[in-house]
Amino acid sequence: WLRYAPYVKAINELKKEKDAVILAHNYMTPQIFHGVADFVGDSLQLAIEATKVKEQVIVQCGVHFMAETSKILSPEKTVLIPDSKAGCSLAESITAKDIAGMRAKYPGAPVVSYVNTTAEVKAASDICCTSSNAVDIVNSMESDLVIMTPDGHLAQNVAKETDKKIVYWEGECMVHIEFKADELREYRKYEPDAVIIAHPECPVDVVAEADFSGSTAGMINYVKENKPEKVLLVTECSMGSNIADEVPEVHFLGPCNLCPHMQKITLEKILWSLHTMTEEVIVDPEMAVKARLAVQRMIDRK
Ligand code: 13P
Ligand code: SF4
Repeated sequence: WLRYAPYVKAINELKKEKDAVILAHNYMTPQIFHGVADFVGDSLQLAIEATKVKEQVIVQCGVHFMAETSKILSPEKTVLIPDSKAGCSLAESITAKDIAGMRAKYPGAPVVSYVNTTAEVKAASDICCTSSNAVDIVNSMESDLVIMTPDGHLAQNVAKETDKKIVYWEGECMVHIEFKADELREYRKYEPDAVIIAHPECPVDVVAEADFSGSTAGMINYVKENKPEKVLLVTECSMGSNIADEVPEVHFLGPCNLCPHMQKITLEKILWSLHTMTEEVIVDPEMAVKARLAVQRMIDRK
């Protein structure tokens, strides 16, 4: 922490000077999560918060689609991302043209797109969802057939909890597909008391091995409320480090998979971003209006 202290101090001072707020995803490193973030949360919480901030500048500490979502919801604000190359394997797996292809293949079926998509894909979708509300959003569709994009694993996990027929795009999260059901069974053998908590971007057989599955915020709440003695968090491993101090009685077991995109956001880059007011996230206003419809429909269906 001593190494980070000068950055934390400088960032917190610059935030006031520039009338800025830092919205940070739960996967940020502990020094960002605890040191400089004004608000931390999962994708849904961050999107909702973006509609409420009073400051003129939002510094999004997360990946590019999250910053774009903030800009879509708060077009009058200046939205900065400390590294615009912080992408997402899911967002990069699909284009608006692919959505049109899915619509042509399944005429009349509504398109539910995960927020892990570009503004262009959101604009081509009927409604968005996140990992915390995907089942409810799918259930709220009038049609019996629903198209889910771009995460094929999330779609298959949702399919197990709804009567709707789901067809899906076969995108994957590069972090969560690394977890294997066999690996979890091995952990169970050696740590039979451990509680396994998996993110729904994991493959279906991995989620089936878990005791609980939920969004990053859902996973954090589960650990804080239940305080299991031993926990295996089957998700990006900054999560365990971020909440470890708040639940000292909980012992976090491996494995550790990091998201290379989330890891691009560092204190140094946040400081530079605020100092130079870069990199600004720009969304074509016409596209933003269409994308906002899909995101706002999701927020309104809460
Ligand atoms: P959450 O909405 O659960 O925070 O998920 C975002 C994400 O990118 C997980 O990989
Ligand atoms: Fe995308 Fe997966 Fe990284 Fe989340 S963890 S930002 S879904 S690549």
